[in-house]
Amino acid sequence: MRQTLVAGNWKLNGSLASIDGLLKAVLAGIGEVDNAEVAVCPPYVYLPTVQTMLKNSPVVWGAQDVCDEDSGAYTGEVSAPMLNEFGCKYVIVGHSERRSIYGESDEFTARKFAATRRAGMKPILCVGESLEEREKAVTEQVVARQLDAVIALEGVAALTDCVIAYEPVWAIGTGMTASPQQAQDVHAFIRQRIAAQDASVADKLQILYGGSVKGNNAAELFAKPDIDGGLIGGASLQAEDFLAICKAG
Ligand code: 13P
Repeated sequence: MRQTLVAGNWKLNGSLASIDGLLKAVLAGIGEVDNAEVAVCPPYVYLPTVQTMLKNSPVVWGAQDVCDEDSGAYTGEVSAPMLNEFGCKYVIVGHSERRSIYGESDEFTARKFAATRRAGMKPILCVGESLEEREKAVTEQVVARQLDAVIALEGVAALTDCVIAYEPVWAIGTGMTASPQQAQDVHAFIRQRIAAQDASVADKLQILYGGSVKGNNAAELFAKPDIDGGLIGGASLQAEDFLAICKAG
């Protein structure tokens, strides 16, 4: 039985004041969350504040990105060992906004995945197709290519210590959620592809859905056999909405 994970990706949002309010409200309601592990991924600079507020609580935290290198002359970057010092359990790698806005390739994403594991944290590897790709019916090829780049670099066993998030690009921030069956189909494809190489890794792997998950659609999504939780953008910025999703886990 795989545990449900609900992770909030705050993206480029928040301030010291708003984070204080948001996390206090999340902590006030977390006692009512029975099944899901709950995580938040703030912008880097807020990690020390988040760590201070969440330590000794059931809520864990992670980063939204990471450098593929551990140290050196890489101006502006933040490394996995640094994130580990601030107690991060998870690191999101290969989010579609990194891939499309910042041009990050499958291979580069795979190196970030490797850097995260080297430092002892769990990557949340994001995969997903664009609207154009879905309309061309190449969703499975796209997701397979994104997955295979990581398996080629790290081996299938590396997926034991990782989470995959299927986020169809057309569903992110648009209000157009994939239907539970559309999401389930791709989740099952991902699990089967990994099972073909290692059935036990595939069976234990948490595969999250992301893309316009809200309090009113989370339960139906999470009830699908291969959907093990969610990666939540907009709705993770409001405690009431985020907690409603966590309770659906
Ligand atoms: P929304 O929940 O705002 O659609 O964002 C999803 C996402 O990109 C999470 O990483």
